[in-house]
Amino acid sequence: MGDYKKFGGEWTEAKLRVLEKYVRAYLTIMRKRKFETVYIDGFAGYCKLENETPEEKTLFHDISETSNRVYEGSVYRILKISLLNPELSFSRYVFIDQNRDYLDRIKEIMNKEGLNIDNSKVSFLHHDCNFALTEILKVLNNPSIRGFIHLDPYGMSLNWETLKGLETTSSDLWVLIPSGVAINRLLTIDKIPKAGFLKKLTSFFGVDEEEIIQTFYEEKRAHTLFGQEKSYRKYSDNISRIIDLYSRKLHSIGYKVSIPLELRNKRNAPIFHFLAASRNNVAIKIADDIIRKEKEERQDGLF
Ligand SMILES: C[S@@+](CC[C@H](N)C(=O)[O-])C[C@H]1O[C@@H](n2cnc3c(N)ncnc32)[C@H](O)[C@@H]1O
Repeated sequence: MGDYKKFGGEWTEAKLRVLEKYVRAYLTIMRKRKFETVYIDGFAGYCKLENETPEEKTLFHDISETSNRVYEGSVYRILKISLLNPELSFSRYVFIDQNRDYLDRIKEIMNKEGLNIDNSKVSFLHHDCNFALTEILKVLNNPSIRGFIHLDPYGMSLNWETLKGLETTSSDLWVLIPSGVAINRLLTIDKIPKAGFLKKLTSFFGVDEEEIIQTFYEEKRAHTLFGQEKSYRKYSDNISRIIDLYSRKLHSIGYKVSIPLELRNKRNAPIFHFLAASRNNVAIKIADDIIRKEKEERQDGLF
């Protein structure tokens, strides 16, 4: 249950609200088309948590920001869309999680709540997402199939090499970037990151160490008694540089990218950014509209 201790309340809700709205719009458009649509949740998670049992109460201690004290995760929300309106269904669903208990929990909830669309349409993959997605993207490399990929790792477990596989598909992607909570922490303030951090950053962004340093650090040269010395200082706008670099990488494989939904913690610090990527301009416009609306409603204090 370790990961669920990190569920963070309002920002999680905002992310899922945006995803759900977009999926509804996507399926409304796609039902008129002849494509086979495949929903892939790369970090499927627990499905649903209710404040019912003593064990779950303990879990809720950490997600107590949620107003109704019931947590409905991405898988639950996506399945519920088609339960409420069967016309808004994907042709197939693929749920990936490296924790078998969570996949079993999804099956249990599906049976209990009648979310059981058709077993033959749902695949449960107990694997690391990078491995599973690499294999799936090879299958999505087919003009009659449209993938819809939702990736919301809370850390930096998603490698760029995996996403590069999107290049030959026409999939839509929603990805959660752990900008403030993980990436920015590896970017040490007044020196370039140590080797282990640089390795993580290069595999996450799919760029070499030189590009990491150039993107995130201002280089200063000073003349000293011992000659010229170089020093490095992290730029103060590194969070937006993180999003820019990730967006640039998505552009490099032919994707258009939405504006990001910035997600902040209780102390108002940016922790994640959630954004959409698609080959289709209309899809990006829809994503932008949904994100803008979410931001406006938040400013108006509606949530
Ligand atoms: C962020 S939560 C998923 C949230 C979920 N999508 C939701 O909306 O409720 C993280 C989940 O990803 C799983 N996970 C973490 N690293 C993974 C990896 N490398 N591959 C596959 N699953 C992973 C964890 O077991 C956990 O269930």
